[in-house]
Amino acid sequence: MTSTAPSPAELEERFDATIAADQRIEPRDWMPEAYRRSLIRQIAQHAHSEIIGMQPEGNWLLRAPSLRRRAILLAKVQDEAGHGMYLYAAAETLGVDREELTEKLIDSKQKYSSIFNYPTLSWADIGVIGWLVDGAAIANQVPLCRCSYGPYARAMIRICKEESFHQRQGYESLLALTAGTEAQKRMVQESVDRWWWPSLMMFGPADGDSPNTHQSMAWGIKRHTNDELRQRFVDMTVPQAAVLGVTLPDPDLRWNDERQAHDFGEPDWSEFTAVVSGAGPANRQRLDHRRRAHENGAWVREAAQAYAEKQGARA
Ligand SMILES: [Fe+2]
Ligand SMILES: [Fe+2]
Repeated sequence: MTSTAPSPAELEERFDATIAADQRIEPRDWMPEAYRRSLIRQIAQHAHSEIIGMQPEGNWLLRAPSLRRRAILLAKVQDEAGHGMYLYAAAETLGVDREELTEKLIDSKQKYSSIFNYPTLSWADIGVIGWLVDGAAIANQVPLCRCSYGPYARAMIRICKEESFHQRQGYESLLALTAGTEAQKRMVQESVDRWWWPSLMMFGPADGDSPNTHQSMAWGIKRHTNDELRQRFVDMTVPQAAVLGVTLPDPDLRWNDERQAHDFGEPDWSEFTAVVSGAGPANRQRLDHRRRAHENGAWVREAAQAYAEKQGARA
């Protein structure tokens, strides 16, 4: 009996057929090197965003206005840590390890979402982040539950359930503020004015300037273009803003009856480029903090390693 290993052409054919049939690629399946690298880049960037994203909100944990609000915020920040962990674990199925990804993050060799380089200046920012930032994250991430790579798709199902909870709690806290005093209403509006455009930038550059989109869609990693997702987010958010009684800071924002969608203005892409490349208001602070936390945690990693070695020797 002879068995011949499949040829590279057969492996590639099998991969293409799996993608074409909208089925999942699993860790032990053969995959093109570029697909693997692209997924590592995207999942790592996503994991880093969850972890760095804990900082702007963590900033308000000790200043939350009530015990209830503090407990909710603490639970949310912990959820984000969990999202980072699932995602690092998903990246590890592609043959990298978390240590290596963390090094790349703190050496600025891998990116995280530009949104977390903006500071949280008022308590309203916490509600607005839940509403707009988690809202934009959901619009981006729900289609990833159907992504072609199994471990990423499965991690996203759980993450999206928690993100939608975050979005609702953020919105609920804004409903409380906008039903409050004039000063509270002003605080919400001022916060919306600062976060609206950076939230729109979370979808990435316009389709014409997004070099990875085409390949990523062909591989079934991405299901919609940046502009499609941005449009969906705007259409979803406008009626919610009306209920809150806040104004979205875009003079070009209006309903287009013909398109059955909202027209809206162009984000300031030069700001986006600056923030992504390290010149945002809080880039330095975020990375310094993450680097410090990593250094301060060295003894925990060493102790865990020594313990594992001791157990291994005993076995
Ligand atoms: Fe998250
Ligand atoms: Fe979240």
